[in-house]
Amino acid sequence: MSITFDPGDKSFHLKSKGSSYVLQNVKNGHIAHIYYDKVVRKFNCEEVLKPIERPSFSPNPDPKDMTFSLDTLPREYPTFGNSDFRRPALEITNPDGSSLADLKYLSHIISKGKPKLLGLPATYSEKDDEATTLELKLQDSTSKLDVSLFYSTFENLDVITRWAVIKNNSDKPMEINNAQSFSMDFNHCDFDFMHLNGYWARERHVVKTPLGKGNLSIESRRGASGHHQNPFFALMSKNSDEDSGNVYGFNLVYSGNFTAHADVDQYNNTRVSMGINPFEFSWQLKPGESFTTPEAVMVHSEKGLGEMSRTFHELYRKHLIRGNFRDSLRPILINNWEATYFDFNKEKIEKLAKSSKELGIELFVLDDGWFGKRDNDKSSLGDWDVNLKKLPEGLKALGDGINKEGLKFGLWFEPEMISRDSALYREHPDWCLHIPGRSKSEGRSQLVLDISRKEVRDYILWKIENILSSAPIEYVKWDMNRNMTEVGSSSLPPARQKETTHRYILGLYEMMEKLTTKFPNILFESCAGGGGRFDPGILHYMPQTWTSDDTDAIERLKIQYGTSMVYPPIAMGAHVSAVPNHQVDRTTPLETRGHVAMGGNLGYELDVSNLTTQEKEDIKNQIKLYKEIRPLVQFGDFYRLKSPFEGNETGWMFVSKDKKDAVVSYFKTMAEPNPPQSTLKLKGLDENTDYTIVDRNVTLGGDMLMNSGITLPTINGDFKSILFKLKAQ
Ligand code: DGJ
Repeated sequence: MSITFDPGDKSFHLKSKGSSYVLQNVKNGHIAHIYYDKVVRKFNCEEVLKPIERPSFSPNPDPKDMTFSLDTLPREYPTFGNSDFRRPALEITNPDGSSLADLKYLSHIISKGKPKLLGLPATYSEKDDEATTLELKLQDSTSKLDVSLFYSTFENLDVITRWAVIKNNSDKPMEINNAQSFSMDFNHCDFDFMHLNGYWARERHVVKTPLGKGNLSIESRRGASGHHQNPFFALMSKNSDEDSGNVYGFNLVYSGNFTAHADVDQYNNTRVSMGINPFEFSWQLKPGESFTTPEAVMVHSEKGLGEMSRTFHELYRKHLIRGNFRDSLRPILINNWEATYFDFNKEKIEKLAKSSKELGIELFVLDDGWFGKRDNDKSSLGDWDVNLKKLPEGLKALGDGINKEGLKFGLWFEPEMISRDSALYREHPDWCLHIPGRSKSEGRSQLVLDISRKEVRDYILWKIENILSSAPIEYVKWDMNRNMTEVGSSSLPPARQKETTHRYILGLYEMMEKLTTKFPNILFESCAGGGGRFDPGILHYMPQTWTSDDTDAIERLKIQYGTSMVYPPIAMGAHVSAVPNHQVDRTTPLETRGHVAMGGNLGYELDVSNLTTQEKEDIKNQIKLYKEIRPLVQFGDFYRLKSPFEGNETGWMFVSKDKKDAVVSYFKTMAEPNPPQSTLKLKGLDENTDYTIVDRNVTLGGDMLMNSGITLPTINGDFKSILFKLKAQ
């Protein structure tokens, strides 16, 4: 919205759609954080920061002023060493070996629009009037270290994003040991800390923990954002829920090692911070060089988690995801993985494609196993040439044939990996991450390519580009199936080895940027053993992500519900698969599998050439229904109605922007004998409009649907679901 500077009290007032964010230059250059909450017209900083004399254990950088200590000052980008003992945002090794960085205000620039972050993904504004940016320049005048703190506000969203650029303006080298993207102090700790936790096949489960004295933190040391902890957390005021309460959401636009902390200090202030994990990280900064941190996104909601999520969704749909597919409906795909695994040939694939077309599917994706001599997961990663034994006429003939059937054609790659059993490894055994003289740990029989090295990136891109140009490929699934071990790069000297992981991620972004720019008409879907890298960094390049390798409908309720906290349903790949489910051996009705997958980007992943007549009819109807509701699911507003983390029922709904159409999904996990009557209160409708429940031919007011709700029919049997559409009258 707006950013203003008051030269009187030297304060900056950032206004986003519902919030004010205020900081102030105090005591000749220290930057204090004053306020982040509901919009305030005009701010009086004096009223907030009252001088108080504190014990000698909070020392005074100015010996003449016993009321000023950095240890008690709410700060914007804290450093360590001159009186603040709390967690620093920045740690430097100066040329003299000391680590003090005494950053003071130098100047500032307020400008329209939003600058790019060098080599890093970030949210963007297309027109200058969509965002406003403050660059706050700080300097340590002794060491000549410059730090620019950047803040961008978006015109129509309750969002502020932050990042920092650190520059060595001295004539000697320095080292960065920790550079967080942001830090901020709240003057209380009455919050719950919510984050998304899990592991392979059970990603992003919602976990809420009360904040108390001490520290709550999440992190990844895996070289990827990870299945375990997403680079997201929220601070929720006590008693806040889906629809009410003050909530702050924080998300890092980064795909590698990250850390996020909430520390409660001696006066019950909460310091939050987020950025690249300083564990196993350092960065040499030669004279004149700069380092840019990833961007952190901060969303504020006064109406609970639901509003926070809708703000993230809108920001990511309009200002993070890019390219031709940002605003276009995504195709319904079939992926052959769970249908065939590695055991396929041309005939099998053609048969699957033909049956898919009959059902209404729009895109055929050939998954792992089409290259090298890959008949299992033990070989060939890196050898990106078609396996002519399986596909004797090559990919072009296969793609042409699939196109002739009326389907688009897509292909799987795992570009960041190398199998020991591959021509590439035999030729370049040092192209993987490794530490000379140490053995190499394997994950899924594979090693991680060292894409921090340019020659490695160039080679892999060249191979992939050749394949993409050789056949009618309109979709790519970019997979990544293990985390980093023995992290070391043969291209870097010993003092720079701890730069490897970040250089890898920068290399990854460069590859993704090049490939998506060169092939703007290919739809890219990212994957990391399912959702092991479901983060905004990747979404900037690849507009959808395979949410989880777990395709069981009941497991997916939690996974998709948790993912929706931050990421929009259009970004979530969601497939109907066979029963008993391959991950958990559970048998669920086809209808429920369809309804769950329709909560995201619908696809299928089963042998559709081997279905009963009834199953074919049911899937045809599912696809017909999804095509009707697809604009709502992919571009509408998402509301969570009942949480799978709190009971036996799950509910969610989508509402069109004009509030004329909605679709509601309800799931009941386990059947109950003689159950109580269940009511579903809807959300997001226009209270003054009447809506017809399509198929039931009942018309009810939006106010009634939201306040009294719909009484659900009694449901018998486990794992059941209901989906209904609403139409405004
Ligand atoms: C892991 C992915 O998540 C699966 O969908 C599939 O593509 C396999 N890799 C293939 O190896």
